[in-house]
Amino acid sequence: MTGDLSPIDKAKFVAAKRAADFVEDGMRVGLGTGSTAAWLVRCLGEMVRDEGLKFRGVPTSTRTAELARDVGIQVVSLDEAKWLDLTIDGADEFDSDLNLIKGGGGALLQEKIVATASDQMIVIADVGKEVESLGTFPLPVEVIPFGWQTTQALIEETLISMDVLGRNSTMRMNGEVPFITDEGNHILDLHLGRIGNPRQMAMVLNQMPGVVENGLFIDICDMVILGYGDGRVELRDINEGTVEHDKLDFVESDNLFTDLAD
Ligand code: A5P
Repeated sequence: MTGDLSPIDKAKFVAAKRAADFVEDGMRVGLGTGSTAAWLVRCLGEMVRDEGLKFRGVPTSTRTAELARDVGIQVVSLDEAKWLDLTIDGADEFDSDLNLIKGGGGALLQEKIVATASDQMIVIADVGKEVESLGTFPLPVEVIPFGWQTTQALIEETLISMDVLGRNSTMRMNGEVPFITDEGNHILDLHLGRIGNPRQMAMVLNQMPGVVENGLFIDICDMVILGYGDGRVELRDINEGTVEHDKLDFVESDNLFTDLAD
């Protein structure tokens, strides 16, 4: 299937490939979930195979764990790794402060635990993920199944006093039945349009008893690597306040581009 990639997939690939350069021998690395993170896992698998890169990966979902093992990465649990040097993950949206919405793939809980347990978090994204204000992408909130409709009503009621454009929420579905996360919970997607105060929103949501975690990642991401369809990448480091540009030769390797599962 080489040669058939859309510009967005190429952008995701080059962002992932550039991020893979940050992984060094001996590191403990959090491996994100989603289509962009899947490229990263494939790139790292290739580096393990071809360059003898030795690192331990902590996946943020069962599907990332499966892919990582398939491509030859040594997979360990977060409890085995204890603390991580680096986490690399995708995002659904990011703003100029590198605050994020994540959880479009339903893995926000493990993603947030893993990213928070890391010295550094790098987000890899195509240019369409950059927003002025977070909230166009529905905000995923992981809730426990017990009394989820009551939790949903409580969330919607609380949103009345918050700085948002919309207050509707929907249960994430998997066909006819509610989606179940890796931790056995459900996801409510909040259609907010714009989140005026993401920090406050994250805190308020997490105070509700039925809420396990929300998809706002505030002050967690250190760098965004933005990919473009023509091979350009932009590295924005929020701590250093720097922006670097690079260009990757786009070589579609058979091993990376076959059987793209995510
Ligand atoms: C998974 O739960 C999400 O947080 C993903 O990281 C996010 O949805 C980005 O996914 P893509 O890389 O597929 O756009």
